[in-house]
Amino acid sequence: MDLAAETATLDSRRPAETDAPAGRVVVRAIVAGIGGYLPERIVGNDELSRTVDTSDSWIRERTGIHQRHIAQPHETCAFMATRAAQAALADAGAAPGDVDAILLATATPDQAFPATALRVQAALGCGGFGFDLSAACSGFIYALSMGDLLIRSGQARGVLVIGAEVYSRIMNWQDRGTCVLFGDGAGAVFLRAGTGEGTGADRGILSTHLHADGKLGDILYVDGAVGRADKPGHLVMNGKEVFRHAVVRLSGAVDEALAANGMDHAAVDWLVPHQANMRIVDAIAKRLALPVERVVVTIDRHANTSAASIPLALAEAHADGRLQRGQVVLLSALGGGLTWGSALIRL
Ligand SMILES: CC(C)(COP(=O)(O)OP(=O)(O)OC[C@H]1O[C@@H](n2cnc3c(N)ncnc32)[C@H](O)[C@@H]1OP(=O)(O)O)[C@@H](O)C(=O)NCCC(=O)NCCS
Repeated sequence: MDLAAETATLDSRRPAETDAPAGRVVVRAIVAGIGGYLPERIVGNDELSRTVDTSDSWIRERTGIHQRHIAQPHETCAFMATRAAQAALADAGAAPGDVDAILLATATPDQAFPATALRVQAALGCGGFGFDLSAACSGFIYALSMGDLLIRSGQARGVLVIGAEVYSRIMNWQDRGTCVLFGDGAGAVFLRAGTGEGTGADRGILSTHLHADGKLGDILYVDGAVGRADKPGHLVMNGKEVFRHAVVRLSGAVDEALAANGMDHAAVDWLVPHQANMRIVDAIAKRLALPVERVVVTIDRHANTSAASIPLALAEAHADGRLQRGQVVLLSALGGGLTWGSALIRL
């Protein structure tokens, strides 16, 4: 079989159950609980402008960022992921024994191995299995998609999906083009197996779409790795190129999600995009004709927390009562790789 053709087919395939005839009972991954954790230390733009040649007004105007949370030494990826997971389990009224799998999206794990997911497993006292997943800022959508598959295949009935990042540890703090953009944090959702009829009226994850183009790997990357003692690595970015791709690919991803579910833009109650730049968020909202009041925005206070940004935004909007059962939530993200994708969920 032609591999390129097969990959393209897999990229855009609708989940099997959305094709199920009405009346048939299908398994759905229901978002049962949501939680987040942000480091205590807040660093405002003015504080950064004392160490690097930038200004509060430049950062606000070009990105929408006012401040970011920066982890202290004890706030490791595993520490923050555990706090977020505990909050998600408590929100779901679930116990550690209900967790069959932990999927943790991160580019900044505590150790090369064991997987940070397993440090979280030990801290929570769960059984089952777990692993880390690397897809940069799209990591949470990728992990959510894998969690959905585990539940729909019957391999797991309860899955913790976590995005946790300490990008402050891979920043070049002399590079004003990148260090002002990122922050640290963790967010988690607990997925629980439920049932539906295979229609868009079901609760749960209605679809996920994942994409990647490795040929674009050099516009956003870390120039080292834990396996290279001489170079643990710093984040490097061609901001203009990433911006250009972000608007095009994210717009495509939201259109794809709606088309796969036979839904119109008007069906979306909340857009929860990856929080990289307010100008990118505005462009996607405009394309969906969604007023900004229906877009969950945290970039002003969190900056870009990579794989943690979407679950942290979900946690905030859930905690303040914006997210309500039955609503349709559209998630979309783009990150280094390039990776990008979307998820459509009915809460
Ligand atoms: C990074 C980004 C904010 C830069 O904005 P921009 O409008 O493209 O700005 P430019 O890169 O053209 O830089 C314009 C000027 O500002 C300067 N500049 C860059 N960062 C600066 C900062 N923090 N403070 C002050 N000036 C800065 C540049 O050096 C340049 O100066 P010059 O004109 O004298 O050469 C923007 O490109 C962006 O957000 N890209 C996407 C990033 C992203 O989303 N990454 C994560 C994806 S997951």
